[in-house]
Amino acid sequence: MSVKTLSELLAEGVEGRGVLVRSDLNVPLDEDGNITDPGRVIASVPTLKALAEAGAKVIVTAHLGRPKGEPDPKLSLAPVAAALSEKLGRHVQLAGDVVGNDALARAEGLTDGDVLLLENIRFDPRETSKDDGERRALAEALAALVEGPDGSPGVFVSDGFGVVHRKQASVYDVATLLPHYAGTLVAAEVKVLEQLTSSTDRPYAVVLGGSKVSDKLAVIENLATKADSLIIGGGMCFTFLAAQGFSVGTSLLQEEMVDTCRKLLDTYADVIHLPVDIVVADKFAADAEAETVPADRIPDGKMGLDIGPGSVERFTALLSNAKTVFWNGPMGVFEFPAFAAGTKGVAEAIIGATGKGAFSVVGGGDSAAAVRQLGLPEDGFSHISTGGGASLEYLEGKELPGIQVLES
Ligand code: 3PG
Repeated sequence: MSVKTLSELLAEGVEGRGVLVRSDLNVPLDEDGNITDPGRVIASVPTLKALAEAGAKVIVTAHLGRPKGEPDPKLSLAPVAAALSEKLGRHVQLAGDVVGNDALARAEGLTDGDVLLLENIRFDPRETSKDDGERRALAEALAALVEGPDGSPGVFVSDGFGVVHRKQASVYDVATLLPHYAGTLVAAEVKVLEQLTSSTDRPYAVVLGGSKVSDKLAVIENLATKADSLIIGGGMCFTFLAAQGFSVGTSLLQEEMVDTCRKLLDTYADVIHLPVDIVVADKFAADAEAETVPADRIPDGKMGLDIGPGSVERFTALLSNAKTVFWNGPMGVFEFPAFAAGTKGVAEAIIGATGKGAFSVVGGGDSAAAVRQLGLPEDGFSHISTGGGASLEYLEGKELPGIQVLES
C-alpha cells in the first residue's frame, strides 16, 4: 500500500488543524444498549490519541448498525462516546446530529486537542447513497467541519478498517476532497493481510464458520485454490452436509446453495474438511438440551448448534502443523455456553499452532468477539482484525474502495 501515513501527518504538524477521522466504532450492543465487546473502540484509540496529543482539533465520524437513513435513538453513538472517553482518557463530546447545526457549532468551538464525535453517520441517507452526487454533498459537509477559520482545508485520516470495503461518503468520497492519510489501524491491518496473501508459509489452513454459505462463497472459491485445508463449521456447514446427501433436521440450510456446495466438494475434495459430529438440540435456546450425533445422522426435528468433540479433534489435527492460519466465523452458537465448545476448541487449536510459530489471523466480527467472550488470550493469535467483511473482501482479491482512494 503506498499511502501517506499518520506519522507523516504528525511530522507535517497538526497543531490547531481540523482533522476528520473515520473510525469503525460499530460495536455490538445488548438489549439495554450496553457495549458487549469494546474491541473496535479500543483499536481506534491509538490514532485518536496521537492526533489529540499533537494538538489537532479532532472530529470523529463513525456508524453504528444499519439505521434506515434517519435518526434512530437505539443506534445513537452515545454509549460509544462514553466508552471512547474512558479508553482515550479524555472527554469526547457527542454532537446531537451528523453535519447539522449542533455539529457545526461544536466544531467551531473546538480548541487544540479536543475530540468531537459526530452522531451516527448513517442517520444521514447520503452516507450510503448509490448516487455519487448525494454522497459527495455529505462529504463536502464533513470537509466543511474541519476547514480552518481562514478557509484552509482540513485533513482526513482513514482509520475505520472495518468499513474500507464500503464506497460510502465518510469512507471514500471525503478522501477525494481532502488531503488524506491512513491511520495506524488501517495501516496495520493492511500490512497483515498483505503478509497473509503474499508470503504465506505452508501448510496454510483456513477456518470458516458463520451462518450463510452465500456470504462466504467468494472467499471459499478464492481460498480453496490457495489453502492446503479449508475447514468449514458453523451454520453454513449444514448446507455442505446436505450437499453430501445427509439429512440436517431443522438446522440452518440454504437450499439454493446446495448445488454450489456439491460442486465445491467435488472440485476441492482434498481441501475442504467438514465436521464429523454435531451438537444438536430441539430448539434455539441457551437452556436447550444438547446431544452429540454423527454428522450424517442428524435426527428429524433437531437442529445443529455446534460442531462436536470428534470434529474439534479432527480439525485440531489439521491445524496442529499449520504455519499460516486464517479464521473467520464461529463454529457454533458460542453465545450459549452449551454450544460454545466447538468454537473454543478450534480457537485453542489455532492458539496452539501460533505457539509453535504459525502466523494466525482472526478475521474480525463474531470470531473476534468469540475470542474475547470465551476468555481466550488475545495475544495467543498473531493478529485479531477489526474487519470481518473488509478482511474477507481483501482475501477474495477485491479492490477495497476505502484503501484504493487513499492511494491517489
Ligand atoms: C462491520 O461491522 O463489519 C463494519 O462495521 C461494516 O458494517 P456494515 O457491514 O454495516 O457496512
